[in-house]
Amino acid sequence: MIVAIDGPAGAGKSTIARRVARRLDFQLIDTGAIYRTVAWRAVEAEMNLEDAPAIAELAASLHFDFKRDEQGENRLICDGRVMGNEIRTPEISLASSQISSHPELRQALLQIQRDLGERASSVLEGRDIGTVVFPRADVKIFLTASNEIRAQRRVDQMRERGEAAELEQVLAEIVERDRRDSERAAAPLKRADDAVDIDTSTLDIDQVVAKILEVVTNGG
Ligand code: C5P
Repeated sequence: MIVAIDGPAGAGKSTIARRVARRLDFQLIDTGAIYRTVAWRAVEAEMNLEDAPAIAELAASLHFDFKRDEQGENRLICDGRVMGNEIRTPEISLASSQISSHPELRQALLQIQRDLGERASSVLEGRDIGTVVFPRADVKIFLTASNEIRAQRRVDQMRERGEAAELEQVLAEIVERDRRDSERAAAPLKRADDAVDIDTSTLDIDQVVAKILEVVTNGG
């Protein structure tokens, strides 16, 4: 069974997807972490982020896996390295959004995401899961929230990690990343026609999780 959770940055996808996966005892595939890891590797190697074929080749050469660590946290492992907060910096957020517009890269990651998702019942979170990666997913959810709420959540997350964060700047970055993700030609951020919309602006995490579990129980 495949549960697809898509939506813009800061709509609560990661937290919600993690909880839903735990409740269902499904594996969790955070596809944003895959894009972020490719971006991080490309930045580390000082590659030109505009060089789409080279970025796609890099992605195709990497091995990705998800595993739960001792704390029960879902971790992306790339070529044996457990990926952590190094892929969550503003620089890597921007770089991942830039490279994700390359059709060559999206194509290289398509089968990787499908193979990971098909290993077991899965919750996948991303931008194009319900539209492109698993268009026949059993359940499709599109999470949204107002720009201000999404920015505030990002700021809270960054401050929790001990990082400096300014609401106005984070808001501007989120709006810019959404624009880029929605306007790109290849697999843009878009609600699937058959997705269930959930606006998380005024709901708490438990309420959103309960709504999704209800959709799963009712078979999408
Ligand atoms: O979800 P997250 O913020 O970690 O994703 C980082 C970036 O990766 C997004 O801004 C988007 O550009 C890209 N992405 C994508 N398709 C996905 C997941 C993420 O294009 N399925």
